[in-house]
Amino acid sequence: MNQKPIEQPVLLGMMRLLDYPQLATPQQLLGFIERCVESGLSGFDHANIYGLGECEARFGAALRLQPALRQQLQLISKADIVPAAQDRSRWQVKHYNTAAQYLTESVEASLSRLAVERLDSFLLHRPSPLLHTDEVVRALQGLLESGKVGGIGLSNAEPLHWQVLCRELPLRCNQIELSLLAQQAAWDGRLQAMQADGLQVQAWSPLAGGAFPPALQQALAEVGEAVQATPNQVALAWVRSLPGKPLPILGSLRWSRIEEALAGAALQLDAPTWFYLAEAARGIKAP
Ligand SMILES: NC(=O)c1ccc[n+]([C@@H]2O[C@H](COP(=O)([O-])OP(=O)(O)OC[C@H]3O[C@@H](n4cnc5c(N)ncnc54)[C@H](OP(=O)(O)O)[C@@H]3O)[C@@H](O)[C@H]2O)c1
Repeated sequence: MNQKPIEQPVLLGMMRLLDYPQLATPQQLLGFIERCVESGLSGFDHANIYGLGECEARFGAALRLQPALRQQLQLISKADIVPAAQDRSRWQVKHYNTAAQYLTESVEASLSRLAVERLDSFLLHRPSPLLHTDEVVRALQGLLESGKVGGIGLSNAEPLHWQVLCRELPLRCNQIELSLLAQQAAWDGRLQAMQADGLQVQAWSPLAGGAFPPALQQALAEVGEAVQATPNQVALAWVRSLPGKPLPILGSLRWSRIEEALAGAALQLDAPTWFYLAEAARGIKAP
């Protein structure tokens, strides 16, 4: 089993795939995936719920045109969130399902949609209040042993969740919201704790979905001018400067934004610059 963390400048998030008409056909999406690989990007972050399965299905349709390309990709998927629209109970309620059978069947469904035989990583999407450790351990171990997943990890996990599961399972990552607008993990010790427990930190919504307020945008532009980088490059460098070098999952699939992120991948920020931006985003000084 490959337990190495993914080493890339960014992962590409597939949550918004359906928003890009220029990637709507299998041929167009195949061209995009090939371009990513040529540029050194091979990690694609899926989940069974993105587009209610349609994002994985579109990706799979592209891969079916060029199955050999799969060898060059690192495919992540996640499961356990059941959107209200997919709840078959009478309540039609969004909930989490960490039952062993559900997790196994979800992975099998993702494999079939993606047209591959194995996920490189499978993550529990959100820790459920009803998560029974023994059952989840059994399900994830079974998936590893079957070869249907190459590695396992968590998403949105708090320290106690991952510490309990780490005792039983070779977890490799935790995917958390982390950006200038979602700084909590940078201040409460979670990043150091993940590093100590050998978990790669993957940062979702690293650009806060494009919602940086004007004061922060101005600070990013000022810093950008000082370090000769664009505001987005500075915002991604802010995330990467943190302990464990969190790996941003870029949500935009516009090529110009991907190129911009790649061009800024080596940018480093010193501590005063990091704190200047943290303060501009939080509106308060460091204590
Ligand atoms: N594990 C989890 O629970 C979880 C939760 C959420 C997301 N994720 C993963 O994280 C990935 C990224 O999330 P995200 O899409 O929220 O990330 P993001 O990179 O913070 O946001 C990208 C979005 O912001 C928009 N945007 C607007 N102005 C922008 C600007 N100036 N610069 C860059 N983007 C701008 C982009 O639109 P344009 O099309 O105009 O560029 C795009 O819709 C998802 O695809 C998914 O794989 C995981």
